[in-house]
Amino acid sequence: MTWRALPRRLAVLNAKGGTGKTTLAVQLAAGLARRGPTALGDLDPQGSAAQWLRAGGVPVHDGEAVWRVDAAHLVWDCPPSVEHPAAQRALREADAVLVPVLPSPLDLWASWRLVEAIRAEQARRAALRAWLVVNQLEPGSALSAAMHEALREFELPALRAVVRRRAVYRSAALQGVSVYDLGPRAAAAVADIEAVIEEMQA
Ligand SMILES: Nc1ncnc2c1ncn2[C@@H]1O[C@H](COP(=O)(O)OP(=O)(O)OP(=O)(O)O)[C@@H](O)[C@H]1O
Ligand SMILES: [Mg+2]
Repeated sequence: MTWRALPRRLAVLNAKGGTGKTTLAVQLAAGLARRGPTALGDLDPQGSAAQWLRAGGVPVHDGEAVWRVDAAHLVWDCPPSVEHPAAQRALREADAVLVPVLPSPLDLWASWRLVEAIRAEQARRAALRAWLVVNQLEPGSALSAAMHEALREFELPALRAVVRRRAVYRSAALQGVSVYDLGPRAAAAVADIEAVIEEMQA
């Protein structure tokens, strides 16, 4: 198998709120930081990523600084809107885009317009990679047939890796750390995040 380089600029983007952009951006930044110098760019005016990692190991940038960071990997936590200028700029400047979606077809359909915007950007820049990633799947349960069907309708591939609903993601957020800092009780969450990172370079 040939391995691709991990994205240098990864935008975590969805027009829909609450799908897990900040959670995934923070955890992926923590995972990427184990592979090379990594920074997190907080593009959301709510500033949740910046708040989250104020005590953690990954440097967080906001404002104009997010566009100028010099790091092997830069992860952008985007605001929940395709129209937001920062989200648009992230889409134009990213090497890769990850779209977290909840495991329900209705939620997925709410991302249709964003997927069209990503496809339009890919038509301009063939090198732009993009995936849907299912977040908050109930542990132990499989994706429903309806969800598989809905994912197939989209022109973006879905990662085989899924991120499950786990309380440790919430406790990590409360403690201002990543799941990598939480020891054995977060092992399954770390495995989720590692699987996402590995699939991005497969
Ligand atoms: N895999 C998960 N397991 C458990 N809780 C999760 C998971 N992913 C996200 N959450 C929780 O769901 C809520 C929404 O997640 P998050 O803030 O990451 O979404 P968001 O897309 O960044 O939201 P917004 O659009 O408001 O910026 C948070 O309370 C978060 O802790
Ligand atoms: Mg957020």
